[in-house]
Amino acid sequence: MRGTRQLFDVESWKVDRVWDKGELYKKKAMQPETLVRTEHILVEFGGIRAVDDVSISVRRGEILGIIGPNGAGKTSLLNVISGFYKPKHGRVYYKGRDITRLPPHERVKLGISRTFQHSELFMGMNVIENIMVGLHPWARGNPLTYALWTPGVVKWEEWARERAEHVIDLLDLHEYRYHIVGSLPPGVQKRVDLARALAQEPEVVFMDEPMAGLTREEKEDLVRAIIEVYETRGITFVLVEHDLEVVTDICNRLVVMDFGRVIAEGPPGEVVDNPLVVKAYLGS
Ligand SMILES: Nc1ncnc2c1ncn2[C@@H]1O[C@H](COP(=O)(O)OP(=O)(O)OP(=O)(O)O)[C@@H](O)[C@H]1O
Ligand SMILES: [Mg+2]
Repeated sequence: MRGTRQLFDVESWKVDRVWDKGELYKKKAMQPETLVRTEHILVEFGGIRAVDDVSISVRRGEILGIIGPNGAGKTSLLNVISGFYKPKHGRVYYKGRDITRLPPHERVKLGISRTFQHSELFMGMNVIENIMVGLHPWARGNPLTYALWTPGVVKWEEWARERAEHVIDLLDLHEYRYHIVGSLPPGVQKRVDLARALAQEPEVVFMDEPMAGLTREEKEDLVRAIIEVYETRGITFVLVEHDLEVVTDICNRLVVMDFGRVIAEGPPGEVVDNPLVVKAYLGS
């Protein structure tokens, strides 16, 4: 064991150096580029401040965990970063560029992908079709060109299918390729959601509660997939997650939210002992 307890009993963990947080910190200290930065984000629903003056940074090459009790504002913050919500105040930057006004599909094209807390997969479509849906930001067609099956549409379709096949390989989804997504177990559906995001060839992937509703075995599979992609593709991950064991094990850094605010930030070992965090979780 190297400097941290290990949750998953996976003998052949391909990338077990990730567990050595000390080494990882040293490695990341040499690559401090900030990929995503939010500045003073405010989101209100009625009188409720769902996100209240939140400024965070996501650094290239990290697995950042965002944790916090229900209703803390985690999903709302993700929605602001991915462009689904417009903040009342505040800015979002991607590699220094102000993207606060960009629509979601433009952010996808820049390299920001996400998965969803409540599945946005098309349950009646098969795996490969669902992955291809994520590639629509690159499609040039309109309803007429689609109906006429123009050469441009055919070209996009070929390109998208090839990309989809690539992530099917990456995430070991071969056997499910033509399965209807609604018929698949939750663990596989989460992998399809991740595959859809990865097909977009992102630099950073935001995952909203990827472990929710999964069995321990399914969690192990998904964690393994995330770590493998992280290590082999150099993709940065941000996990919004309630499973504290998972986040403390795989994240390099945690941001803790409560009542819309960031109440703590730092290495997992420090954060989980922070009295403010303990209080937020115990509700006392
Ligand atoms: N579309 C919406 N309309 C109205 N209120 C909303 C909306 N989305 C979020 N809220 C409210 O904003 C607050 C933050 O919600 P949010 O979903 O961002 O929290 P969360 O940290 O993701 O919670 P959970 O862990 O349960 O997913 C909550 O009080 C929630 O009820
Ligand atoms: Mg949420």
